[in-house]
Amino acid sequence: MSGFEWTTQLSIGIEPMDKDHQKIIALMNELDRVHSADAPFGQVDRAFRQLVDFTRKHFSDEEAYMEAIEFEQLKSHKQIHARLLNSLDEHYADFKQSMTLNDQVFSFLRFWLKSHICGIDRKYAAHAHA
Ligand SMILES: [Fe+2]
Ligand SMILES: [Fe+2]
Repeated sequence: MSGFEWTTQLSIGIEPMDKDHQKIIALMNELDRVHSADAPFGQVDRAFRQLVDFTRKHFSDEEAYMEAIEFEQLKSHKQIHARLLNSLDEHYADFKQSMTLNDQVFSFLRFWLKSHICGIDRKYAAHAHA
């Protein structure tokens, strides 16, 4: 599969959040890379865990930011984060159990990238810029 790509279209115009999103994409690419290279389980596990951990940190930083700018849809955005983290944790647990990474993980990541960054994060960015 082709990699995950950062384009200026993904920029929401808030630098620390753009940086986080770029890092998430880099971590997704790293996971894709070790998976495609048939790297040992430990390496894939480390890459996957880094993605899960950083995503958790990003979501909580983003929530603090939305709170600071008094974004009125904070509650629903938080729910979306919680659901995404849940799915991500489930995918990770599946991987740990089966010791293989299935392609569904990557379609999930692709969907998430699109809906999260290109979609819902734009809303608080619009509020911040208003
Ligand atoms: Fe985000
Ligand atoms: Fe978000």
